[in-house]
Amino acid sequence: MERIVIINFGAQYNQLIARRVREAGVYSELLPPDASIEAIRGDGLSGVILSGGPDSCYQPGARTCSPEIFELGVPVLGICYGMQLMCQLLGGTVGPAPVREYGRTFVRFGENRLFSGMEDSICWMSHNDAVLKAPEGFRVIAETDDCPVAAVCCEERGLYAVQFHPEVRHTEYCAEFFRNFVREICKCTGSWSVDGIADELIAAVRAQVGNGRVVAGLSGGVDSSVAATLVHRAIGDRLTCIFVDHGLLRLGEAEEVMDYYRNEIGLNVIEVDAKERFLTKLAGVSEPEAKRKIIGTEFIRVFEAEAKKIGADFLLQGTIYPDVIESGTGGAQVIKSHHNVGGLPKNIAFKGLVEPLRILFKDEVRMLGESLGMPAPLVWRQPFPGPGLAIRVIGDITEEKLDILRKSDLILREEIKKAGLDRSVWQYFTVFTGLRSVGVMGDCRTYDYTIAVRAVTSTDAMTVEFAELPYDLLRRISNRIIAETPHVNRVVFDITDKPPGTIEWE
Ligand code: XMP
Repeated sequence: MERIVIINFGAQYNQLIARRVREAGVYSELLPPDASIEAIRGDGLSGVILSGGPDSCYQPGARTCSPEIFELGVPVLGICYGMQLMCQLLGGTVGPAPVREYGRTFVRFGENRLFSGMEDSICWMSHNDAVLKAPEGFRVIAETDDCPVAAVCCEERGLYAVQFHPEVRHTEYCAEFFRNFVREICKCTGSWSVDGIADELIAAVRAQVGNGRVVAGLSGGVDSSVAATLVHRAIGDRLTCIFVDHGLLRLGEAEEVMDYYRNEIGLNVIEVDAKERFLTKLAGVSEPEAKRKIIGTEFIRVFEAEAKKIGADFLLQGTIYPDVIESGTGGAQVIKSHHNVGGLPKNIAFKGLVEPLRILFKDEVRMLGESLGMPAPLVWRQPFPGPGLAIRVIGDITEEKLDILRKSDLILREEIKKAGLDRSVWQYFTVFTGLRSVGVMGDCRTYDYTIAVRAVTSTDAMTVEFAELPYDLLRRISNRIIAETPHVNRVVFDITDKPPGTIEWE
């Protein structure tokens, strides 16, 4: 398999570099700066990309890489910090940029294969430092008004570097740039695709598991569902799935996903009814982190008990590539203790973990699900948090509040679907705010609850914008929720982006 390695120096956009290379048809992988040369070389290495990053390469302690990378016999591309580091390591000079450039910047390109088919155009810049003098044997191949060395190359050695960020969509010729690098310069055939790897992933699961048995936690979410479908293809009924109904699911959800799992995909699923257990433990608890911890712990207990009965050798996890990348960064503040089926028990004895999706991004997981013939409503389900409705009832949880939340949420889902927005809006749900206010209905005073509507657009849930739902749709949603949900007399729409908000209220 052709493979391009991206050395990750910590910029915000590094996952995007991996995406763009894959979109150009080549499998890509992010590795840390201290990865060994053997790990970088691996199998089928076709090129290396040195990513951007927040350091100044001439400061002590700045991230660096082994100069052996330039001797691997494959082309190397430096991007932003990667360009500065390459130039410094090879004898050029890097220092503070006389004029810093941020955002859209007009770049003039010289004659070069890297820029084939690209006109002088807008690129995205974001840098404090700049290459002041290119290394010996390099020539300058692009410039801007404020940055005379905006790209360099040494074609004989296959070394290329750009100061701008070709990976962001604001760079006009983003796709052409990556196609030029991977096809023209690295000479890749560009034949990698998600559809094409299903068979390889299935074969890898068979090789890992042998005659063993695998147990999986299913949440109804896309990652665990696709992972289970894939492993089922590999080993059939030696996969046992456990679906824990914690009583915090949306209306009809348990029935719907169980129907897909059992009847459409043919998975071997044990459904555990643990509603009472969870709701008893949660009674009277209103602090969000306390709720999350209780749910996380109970989940593990229930899962563990079932898994022990089955006695499997391997645990299947729906880990995806962003989880792998993020778990390598460390040190970030805990905003919320995310509870995932993917983060399940470390203390049950298994021979190993099966993580077939760990090289894929979320939308690639969806493509894989489709190529495995999974039902579209399961593949395109909006993300739903592990702690479920518990973090959408603000304050303590009661059956009455859950009931109000479920009814209002169903109305919202129906209206969004009717409006044809169910794929373009990333997530949409209602929140039981716990707030009561005065209203008037049928000439009578009411003093009832407020429901909040949350709808956001995003590509990865890391940053989101509130969805600009049309007013007539919002009015229909509000009218229906108040008319059809007892004890609700007010509906508000949450107009907070993330950051500063988060998607869920707790
Ligand atoms: P926040 O609220 O942190 O949510 O902006 C980001 C995304 O993660 C989902 N979410 C969770 N998913 N376990 C999960 O599996 C959790 O504990 C959890 N908390 C939030 C949330 O729905 C959104 O898609």
